[in-house]
Amino acid sequence: MSTFRLRKAKTLILFSITVAFTMLLCNYMLFFKSTLSLLNDLHPKEACACHRCVGETGGDTWFAERFNQDISPLMSRRSSTLTNETYRWWLLLQDESQPTDFNEVVEKLFQVIPDKELYRDAKPGRCRTCSVVGNSGNLKNSNYGPLIDLSDFVIRMNRGPTKGFEKDVGSRTTHHIMYPESAVNLDNETSLVLIPFKTLDLEWLISALTVGHINFTYLHVMPRIKASKDKVIVYNPIFMKYIYETWLEGHGLYPSTGFMAIIFALHICDEVNVYGFGADQHGNWHHYWEDNKTGGAFRQTGVHDGDYEHNLTMTLASKQKIAFFTGTGMVQREEKLEFLWNN
Ligand SMILES: *[C@@H]1O[C@H](CO)[C@@H](O)[C@H](O)[C@H]1NC(C)=O
Ligand SMILES: *[C@@H]1O[C@H](CO)[C@@H](O)[C@H](O)[C@H]1NC(C)=O
Ligand SMILES: *[C@@H]1O[C@H](CO)[C@@H](O)[C@H](O)[C@H]1NC(C)=O
Ligand SMILES: *[C@@H]1O[C@H](CO)[C@@H](O)[C@H](O)[C@H]1NC(C)=O
Ligand SMILES: *[C@@H]1O[C@H](CO)[C@@H](O)[C@H](O)[C@H]1NC(C)=O
Repeated sequence: MSTFRLRKAKTLILFSITVAFTMLLCNYMLFFKSTLSLLNDLHPKEACACHRCVGETGGDTWFAERFNQDISPLMSRRSSTLTNETYRWWLLLQDESQPTDFNEVVEKLFQVIPDKELYRDAKPGRCRTCSVVGNSGNLKNSNYGPLIDLSDFVIRMNRGPTKGFEKDVGSRTTHHIMYPESAVNLDNETSLVLIPFKTLDLEWLISALTVGHINFTYLHVMPRIKASKDKVIVYNPIFMKYIYETWLEGHGLYPSTGFMAIIFALHICDEVNVYGFGADQHGNWHHYWEDNKTGGAFRQTGVHDGDYEHNLTMTLASKQKIAFFTGTGMVQREEKLEFLWNN
């Protein structure tokens, strides 16, 4: 073989290798690009600016079938027009037999509190993180306080105190969910979130922020409440019915306060962290501010399906829609969450 033919052969081989390599690279890049765009289709990048976004359904049909962002979590004049069916459902929750005219009460309500469409501002640039803090004894010795306080919104409920428990439950409260029978005074930084179960609850709110003449519903209630009027918001009965039908699929009589807090957070936050739900490490049901020996007293309600709510909560956690923090408690199948959520 002449050196000329040898060189020609070498060049040919080199050329072939280069061509093959380039083709491979092109193919690889094409494949990579199509995979990337497929991933983008599954996870549209625009949902929010957090690491993970609640509002991104990401091809999860279970979540997509339930999560409906068209329903306003809060009442405003505009979003409070109940259909007859919703109104009848809502009146039955606490058997209100002679209600004051709903529309009249709503009109009076928005003469006292702001009429705004709040938090419906999900957009690509937003990353709103939220801590939902239940009242479980599993928060005791959890040292979650600083972590809880890191979130933009810290949502607490019913009688849950912070004073004296900061190390475990945090010190900030941006939203405090309550109903008349579970009401507590708030500081001027916190939004009172009323969950109305009857027309009288709306009338109580108006009264408690003004003249203070209502001191009884089915229990004695605080005639007046300390709260910034311009921060008071009201949970929407339409949203309650949505949770009951779409999430709970009719289990129980109506959703518990705790479950309503979680679904509320799903709708107004981009990232949801859940603390203080479930039993403590001994399987006891009590509040973090109580001795575990006194806890048994609040295990009696029959109106919520705690098992079903727990299953949904755990399913949301498994789908990474919420981060569930067990504190010093254990995750137990037989856990029932309802009791802690409603006292
Ligand atoms: C709803 O109820 C009101 C009063 O009971 C009645 O006048 C009205 O016709 C009902 N509307 C519908 C759409 O059924
Ligand atoms: C809120 O209360 C604190 C003291 O409790 C007070 O210093 C502050 O000025 C109040 N802020 C408003 C906006 O009223
Ligand atoms: C509740 O209000 C009624 C009248 O509005 C009054 O007679 C009664 O003493 C009040 N009860 C309490 C415990 O404040
Ligand atoms: C209550 O809690 C303490 C410590 O947190 C524990 O030692 C005790 O066994 C608990 N009581 C019951 C009845 O479980
Ligand atoms: C919820 O319940 C369903 C049906 O009983 C079960 O298959 C599923 O594993 C439960 N999910 C969780 C997270 O417990």
